[in-house]
Amino acid sequence: MKRNLGEKLMGAPQELEKSATANALEAVRLDKQGSRGMAITMYQKAIETLLKLVQLYPEYNLNKVYIQRAIAYQERIKVLQGTATPVESQGGVSKAVESARTTSGEKASYDELILKEKPNVRWTEVVGLEPAKRAIKEAIVYPVQRPDLFPLGWPRGILLFGPPGCGKTLLAAAVATEIDATFVSVDAASIMSKWLGEAEQNVARLCNSARKSAMEGTPAIVFIDELDSLMGKHSNEVGGEVRVRNQFLKEMDGIIDKGKNLHVYIIGATNKPWDLDWPFIRRYQKRILVPLPDHHARLMMFKLYTNTLQLSPDIDLHELARLSEGFSGSDIKDVCQSAHLKVIGEFFESGQASDKLAKPRIMRMGDFRRILEDRKPSVSIDMIDLYNRWFETFKAL
Ligand SMILES: Nc1ncnc2c1ncn2[C@@H]1O[C@H](COP(=O)(O)OP(=O)(O)OP(=O)(O)O)[C@@H](O)[C@H]1O
Ligand SMILES: [Mg+2]
Repeated sequence: MKRNLGEKLMGAPQELEKSATANALEAVRLDKQGSRGMAITMYQKAIETLLKLVQLYPEYNLNKVYIQRAIAYQERIKVLQGTATPVESQGGVSKAVESARTTSGEKASYDELILKEKPNVRWTEVVGLEPAKRAIKEAIVYPVQRPDLFPLGWPRGILLFGPPGCGKTLLAAAVATEIDATFVSVDAASIMSKWLGEAEQNVARLCNSARKSAMEGTPAIVFIDELDSLMGKHSNEVGGEVRVRNQFLKEMDGIIDKGKNLHVYIIGATNKPWDLDWPFIRRYQKRILVPLPDHHARLMMFKLYTNTLQLSPDIDLHELARLSEGFSGSDIKDVCQSAHLKVIGEFFESGQASDKLAKPRIMRMGDFRRILEDRKPSVSIDMIDLYNRWFETFKAL
């Protein structure tokens, strides 16, 4: 199929570079329009590709530029995650990022919300989360492939909830890649802040276009990240969130009832499920917990995120999985990337990079330990307990 062919053709540095650029441009676009979660996923894809490029072609003369770019994207991710304040830097990429920041007050049109460049996230890149993957496949992938096998219909609303950084947005990105569907990604927080006064109409437009796409034969998935923002606790438009919320409920009913044979799906994600009220919860027929990774999942994540790195034999991935108890997938990825960037950074600083044949040293256990020592899990035990309690009350797999 298309993707496999694409993969075979990939590999030359130019191809990897092209793919990194496509991901980065899409990330900046998503960033502008306020799809924060999806933008982060795309920036991360771009970083991964750039680092792979550097790893595979250490002598490639543009590597310094690539590293700088990767670092700029990382900074932007931190800003989007709210873990850093914007810092001024130079260079084309940071300018693009900069423009993303300055235009963020503009209203995003519906067309801008459509994911143009599919995120290229495969199911295999989503570690663990088997129940969530299975539920999504049953609810979306199979009905799209063989609607004739579902005479009783299929669910249209899927709620993914769980602690931050454990794969909710990643799962949505994997669905987008998997299905040749119209994929619309909006961030409820930015609906409230950017569509000021027009939020209701835009919500209606968004759902209408999704239905239209489905009627014309292309399935449509509407992904709403940070769903809890619709519940109106932090909105700056007084009373507005109530109307937008009701509009959403109405639209969802339209999709669930009238759209019986249409392939329109709504995936909602939140890390504050307890903020949602019952009318909302009820319309998501599938409610899926996306939990913190267990030991095995953390091990698999360390494997995944180090598989393109040159590791010394002293590296014990089991031990890393043990040391990272309580860490989210996002934390683990960050540990691997930071450890790697440190080694690469040292290499450039030592001046060896100018020697085209020189390579950075291999990574050692100590590189990872040092990073892990400076970090705490980003989710507390109390929070985990809350998620589990909510799941027990409202679960629907
Ligand atoms: N299960 C996982 N498998 C592989 N990587 C993961 C997993 N969970 C998280 N990650 C890594 O962490 C990053 C952030 O995850 P993601 O954006 O999906 O989290 P989230 O659950 O949507 O968090 P939030 O609630 O903050 O939006 C991913 O892009 C990925 O690199
Ligand atoms: Mg997310």
